[in-house]
Amino acid sequence: MSNHEQTRAGALLTVDLGAICDNWRTLDAAVGAAECAAVVKADAYGLGAARVAPALAAAGCRRFFVAHLDEALALEHCLPSDATVCVLHGPTPGAEREFVEHGIVPVLNSRAQLAAWGALARSLDRELPAIVQVDTGMARLGLSTQELHAVASDADALAGIRVAGVMSHLACAEQAGHPANLAQRQRFVAARRCLPPAPASLANSSGIFLGEAYHFDLVRPGAALYGLAPVEGAPNPMRPVVRLQGKVVQTRTIEAGTPVGYGHAWRSDRPARIATVAVGYADGWLRSLGHGGAAAWFDGVALPLAGRVSMDTITLDASALPDGALVPGTLVELIGERQVVDAVAARAGTIGYEILTSLGSRYARHYLGDAATA
Ligand SMILES: Cc1ncc(COP(=O)(O)O)c(C=O)c1O
Repeated sequence: MSNHEQTRAGALLTVDLGAICDNWRTLDAAVGAAECAAVVKADAYGLGAARVAPALAAAGCRRFFVAHLDEALALEHCLPSDATVCVLHGPTPGAEREFVEHGIVPVLNSRAQLAAWGALARSLDRELPAIVQVDTGMARLGLSTQELHAVASDADALAGIRVAGVMSHLACAEQAGHPANLAQRQRFVAARRCLPPAPASLANSSGIFLGEAYHFDLVRPGAALYGLAPVEGAPNPMRPVVRLQGKVVQTRTIEAGTPVGYGHAWRSDRPARIATVAVGYADGWLRSLGHGGAAAWFDGVALPLAGRVSMDTITLDASALPDGALVPGTLVELIGERQVVDAVAARAGTIGYEILTSLGSRYARHYLGDAATA
């Protein structure tokens, strides 16, 4: 990011690539001999896959998961040639050839996807690799138990397909004691027996913290790489990754009782100093934060939100700061040391994943810990 960009922007988003890589190394070490992939779908959870994926590749990661073919294609020139990109949704009907042309590995989730992939392989007269997903208790993606048994008893069902992996996804992994975890693991072990021997993958970030029995051959963390807490109610072992600072546009002093913002939803019971900051719900600072007691921080002082979140701005009660502490252009912290992503999410009544993937496109983005920008 140039100084010019930083000067023009209403807010700065700093993404610490070094912290993301450290988080990957922590997870990689935690899973021992198992391979640690990286989930970089949804633009690396809103943080910029074109920057995050190459940084992770430089740290040693060799397998990346995205949701859509287009996301995989966008990474094509960002990654070393020995890295593999896997597409969780598999090919949409008719898109199979593009996977082959670009060497992208699909996750096949249904009998229809198996059939289309196998048919293409046979027409090309070669085996094509794919990961087969089985549903072990989420009813979202993957072969049901019934479909899996049908595949196992049909000699042609996998003709042309080289099963390069078997995977499933945990529904409740962030709750370590949830009975669904063990049930899904048991179904996964049983499901593997219905398919040719292949490396197995069950765990997302939280799944890694369920212990070795959940690691199998490959783990697929996303959220923990980006600093979100993997285990509900436990201390977060991951390094924080994101800092969001909004710029003050204007300040004013108001009389006691003056209504602030849309709907006149807030009034101060005393004279107050109001600072208007250039971040709003169009930037992913969710409107629900206006009801959750969220604050911004400046110099260690909490500045509560005053009134509703607008499209492009928030108004803060800056009365706790001395007059003149905030002037146009001053940066206040919205996400950072004082208020991590998970805390913002809790205030908005949502999860850190939604806060990250909502981060707006109007921020000036600054990447730390990257040789290209350091
Ligand atoms: C199939 C699959 N695997 C892995 C992940 C990564 O999960 P997390 O971000 O919780 O680590 C996701 C994310 O939703 C997913 O859908």
